[in-house]
Amino acid sequence: MAVPDIQPSVAALDIVCAETAAPPTALVVFGASGDLANRKLLPSLAQIQQRGLLNEHFCVLGCGRKEYSDKQFRQTAREALAEHAGDVPADLTAALAERLYYLSGDYSDPAFYGKIKDRLAEIRRRHNVEGCNIFYLAVPPALYGEVAEHLGQAGLSQKGAPACEQCARLVVEKPFGRDQHTAAELNDILYKWFDEAQIYRIDHYLGKETVQNIMILRFANAIFEPVWNRNHIDNIQVTIAETLGVEHRASYYDKSGALRDMFQNHMLQMMALVAMEPPISFHADHIRDEKAKLLRSIRPFELDHWNSCFVRGQYGPGTVDGREAPGYRSERGVAVDSQTETFVAARLFVDNWRWKDVPFYLRTGKRLARKNTEIAVTFKQVPHSLFSSVGLDEMPPNVLVLKIQPEEGISMRFQAKRPGSKICMGTLDMNFSYQEVFGVAMPESYQRLLLDCMVGDQTLFTRFDGVQIAWELLHPVLEAWHKGKVPLAEYPAGSDSFSEADAIVAVDGRQWRKLIAK
Ligand code: BG6
Repeated sequence: MAVPDIQPSVAALDIVCAETAAPPTALVVFGASGDLANRKLLPSLAQIQQRGLLNEHFCVLGCGRKEYSDKQFRQTAREALAEHAGDVPADLTAALAERLYYLSGDYSDPAFYGKIKDRLAEIRRRHNVEGCNIFYLAVPPALYGEVAEHLGQAGLSQKGAPACEQCARLVVEKPFGRDQHTAAELNDILYKWFDEAQIYRIDHYLGKETVQNIMILRFANAIFEPVWNRNHIDNIQVTIAETLGVEHRASYYDKSGALRDMFQNHMLQMMALVAMEPPISFHADHIRDEKAKLLRSIRPFELDHWNSCFVRGQYGPGTVDGREAPGYRSERGVAVDSQTETFVAARLFVDNWRWKDVPFYLRTGKRLARKNTEIAVTFKQVPHSLFSSVGLDEMPPNVLVLKIQPEEGISMRFQAKRPGSKICMGTLDMNFSYQEVFGVAMPESYQRLLLDCMVGDQTLFTRFDGVQIAWELLHPVLEAWHKGKVPLAEYPAGSDSFSEADAIVAVDGRQWRKLIAK
């Protein structure tokens, strides 16, 4: 049956926006000449500026090992902005470049932080910044503790300073630790010098518009909550499928793998948002309390039944988007006998009144058939068919799909009568596309996150208890892998799925949703 798109016009939407502009801020970026700074942070700042939300009293001090002068840093920044800042006009990118400064040094040298302190004071005066210092750690995870420690020793962390004084915030990228022990160790160092309220742990998925929309959809509409439970929902599938391979990140990825890179953070955070109880308000801690509670309610994995609860895979050679792709072990920088997983899938249960015995199937992998991030909520079948006389004993269930990327939107699958013969039914997908309705491309999640950090809103950042509970949940998985208990399956690059992954949903008589519709 033809699939109609049901498109509300923008005029029909009553739009309520609350956007706070950034206060005066000085941003110190460690790793300023790196990929993250050039591809995400600087372009996002330019876009915030384009939206009129960057304060005129704002400056950036880039820090790194590369020996740049201010002039060289500005030049590379201009090039990065030209490539990655979309339609930001040249006069705005030039104006942003004028606020950039650079200091090179060795992260392990305490004297470097003394120099940072002096230089920061100087450029704050120049730009008349009377506001927070934000220290952004865009460096390899192994350096987070060391840099935070030196910042503290140099007197830059301002722990316990009254809110009215100049404050300091620390932004830490994921992964936060490699397991529960290293995460706790890292956190101890951070807590020595910073309060939780000063620490902004980034999970860039939380900055995605469509991930934030999970909360709006659930809690700003009255129709979903009454059916959002075990009485009406059959199962929930969360998928992050990528077509990309390890690209140029093997030195990081081969030591990390999909569990640490995607599952412990992005996947579990999305699951928490979709399954948590309604928070009492939109306040950061109220939301984070509910997410932590949900993560705590996930049933521990049954160690004796690995095959039915966790799968790890690694891509072999294959074809992606019509092009031949090498296997993971042939990628540059990857060990030829690497045991690192590029795919994980899990079958989880939440032991609480709302979700008891509803399976949550989570999967993420690189080099799969199609880029697709979505949350699919499948409802139970109708309890009784009126239409068995025409052979319709079982009807396909309703499915609500929250499409996170690349085609951001929402779709609802339901049954409808087909015009013509008396009883003739078809399955319809009612689609809503963000891009078509709002007419704008989805803003880069770093725009949202940087702005929130400047404003001091921690709602979209992870709190340590949430991070730690996620690690604790995965501790037995990591241990079992370490002991070689869970075999590493190989899947051809470009796969939609593979038998080991299929098996963990098949135990419940279900299937994964296809990445490529047949
Ligand atoms: C990052 C991971 O956090 O997320 C990458 O480190 C992954 O391995 C990326 O490719 C995916 O993000 P997105 O926004 O492209 O879905």
